[in-house]
Amino acid sequence: YEVKCTDLASDAVWHHSTITNEMRADRLNQCPKCIWLTGLSGSGKSTIANALDAVLFENNAATFLLDGDNIRHGLNKDLGMSEKDRAENIRRIGEVARLMVDAGLIVICAFISPYQRDRQIVRSMFKHGQFVEVFLDTPLNVCESRDPKGLYKKARQGVIKNFTGISDPYEAPETAEVVINTSSSNIEDSVKAILKALN
Ligand code: PPS
Repeated sequence: YEVKCTDLASDAVWHHSTITNEMRADRLNQCPKCIWLTGLSGSGKSTIANALDAVLFENNAATFLLDGDNIRHGLNKDLGMSEKDRAENIRRIGEVARLMVDAGLIVICAFISPYQRDRQIVRSMFKHGQFVEVFLDTPLNVCESRDPKGLYKKARQGVIKNFTGISDPYEAPETAEVVINTSSSNIEDSVKAILKALN
């Protein structure tokens, strides 16, 4: 699969458009960003991403929200939870987020994205300052006690294999722009912390 993609790419020629990315961002009167929320299942990614999206939207920002469960219903429905599939999941989402940033949007991405290498690859797709990594550093025991979808219970029973934090790794970010522990920070304060980092 990778070899095929490389072959195709080598024959493709890049077209430059008359309307530049800067012109698109100017039209929307904003600095495009990719805000990347990473953390365990139940750490609060979707809740905070949604609240942030709403605040930005109310303030006339042009935004879009990409969320793990939703993307896995469509674009990435062919992917599972192996390390390789998670890498491909994050790679594709990074490419989509990059296109949206090129279109001038503020894109909020909420994915477990458990591997440092995959997150680093996405970061490297963006210009300096465009990628804002938000680590939802909510302790595993708190995520597990919330268990909103009953997934931790199934993971403990061995019904779900390769479950992040239980039977699969989560590599915590070391250089995230924002770190939030949602067991001690409410939704409003968490959103404020991200907005502060966006300046
Ligand atoms: S990843 O690791 O970034 O590719 O995962 P992501 O695309 O964010 O999808 C995470 C959601 O998939 C559900 N789910 C699992 N999560 C973790 N491990 C395993 N094995 C698993 N199987 C299914 C789960 O609903 C995750 O959503 P969140 O919102 O994180 O709870």
